[in-house]
Amino acid sequence: MKKDTPYKVSLLAYVRSHLLLLLVALVVSVVLGDPSYQEQFSFVSHRLLQTTINNSNGLAGFRTCDGCFCIVENEGEMCPIDPPFTNFTSIIPTLRNLTLSNPIGPDAACNPYTNETCALTPSQNLGGGACVVEMQEPLTDFSSCPESWSYHLRTFSGTFEEATQQRLFVTHNGSCGACSSLQDLAVYMEQGANLREASSRCGALGLIDADRAIQCFEEIGFSTEWATIWYFNTEKTAEACILLCAPFVLSGNSPNGDPPTCPLAPCIDCDETQAGPIFRAFAGRTRRNSGLLSDIIRPCDQVVRVEQVDPCARATLAPSMAPATTPPSSSIRWGFPVRGAICTAVLLSLH
Ligand SMILES: *[C@@H]1O[C@H](CO)[C@@H](O)[C@H](O)[C@H]1NC(C)=O
Ligand SMILES: *[C@@H]1O[C@H](CO)[C@@H](O)[C@H](O)[C@H]1NC(C)=O
Ligand SMILES: *[C@@H]1O[C@H](CO)[C@@H](O)[C@H](O)[C@H]1NC(C)=O
Ligand SMILES: *[C@@H]1O[C@H](CO)[C@@H](O)[C@H](O)[C@H]1NC(C)=O
Ligand SMILES: *[C@@H]1O[C@H](CO)[C@@H](O)[C@H](O)[C@H]1NC(C)=O
Repeated sequence: MKKDTPYKVSLLAYVRSHLLLLLVALVVSVVLGDPSYQEQFSFVSHRLLQTTINNSNGLAGFRTCDGCFCIVENEGEMCPIDPPFTNFTSIIPTLRNLTLSNPIGPDAACNPYTNETCALTPSQNLGGGACVVEMQEPLTDFSSCPESWSYHLRTFSGTFEEATQQRLFVTHNGSCGACSSLQDLAVYMEQGANLREASSRCGALGLIDADRAIQCFEEIGFSTEWATIWYFNTEKTAEACILLCAPFVLSGNSPNGDPPTCPLAPCIDCDETQAGPIFRAFAGRTRRNSGLLSDIIRPCDQVVRVEQVDPCARATLAPSMAPATTPPSSSIRWGFPVRGAICTAVLLSLH
């Protein structure tokens, strides 16, 4: 019996290290409530996903359920005839060029999955109907939009129509959050159905070090706020859904099952229930509430119709049509220093 001990110990150690590796792989490969999972684990297998891609309907490589961009849930209903727009090449540079004057994020690296008192700063808990963008002209020069222009994000409690009447433009449904910036919107648009390829690289880096995964996502263009919430979500999912997600990740399953219902894979469904609500509350923006498609096919009533416009086109219209309530000219450009401080705090705390 004694002879067995070293073997048993080393086997146990082997199993332990293997489980740990699997867990770490999950942490980095399983993505948030909305940002789709298989974007992360595609280094395991691309094969199954690619068989379901249908390019013939102009959806730029997005997967479909029975040829529809969304899941038709109620019997007798049809696929909406106008699928979401998918080619944003003309507005992406503009979105990237604008500076957010009030970055929104969790209080310095507070993890909302483990700390109930975490909140967004500035506070956004208005149960809002829309996250709206207010364009801000440069104070010191007369550059044409977008150069030197900035914008302010605000949770608007009214409807989309009311926002439009007030010359605000809606960037997504619900309240603003850590992923509401036009920068994160631009990355989602730019990556489209290919986000999984870019991010599988980051997922692989995350096998070594979570910080490097976060940095990698920043290099793709996401904000630190986005990368941080993503990281907390993956931690939660790895903890709560490991039994469903381990086989899912290893087999490289498709996130949706077969038509006509195309149900969410159990792992994704688990993430959705366990990690999704907090993610959505803190992230604010998801692709489906921004009018964008992702690699997870969603029920049609979750894909919100949001017209993603050129912010500068709206800004140019504003002066002649805006009511007396134009943004106060005293709005200070505190974006960069504050953002820098938040980012530094967030990154340091993740070590
Ligand atoms: C792709 O979708 C169109 C409808 O949007 C459908 O007619 C066509 O058969 C599909 N092609 C494949 C290969 O699934
Ligand atoms: C997207 O739109 C641009 C013009 O805005 C066009 O040049 C480009 O070819 C389009 N890309 C695709 C894939 O349709
Ligand atoms: C914004 O656009 C201008 C001119 O195209 C460019 O010089 C500048 O680097 C851009 N700024 C950012 C932050 O992308
Ligand atoms: C929870 O978050 C609050 C607010 O950010 C913070 O003051 C507190 O220290 C956090 N508690 C723990 C245990 O991290
Ligand atoms: C839009 O946001 C509101 C408020 O958060 C929410 O009640 C509603 O369900 C959302 N609509 C969709 C289609 O997601």
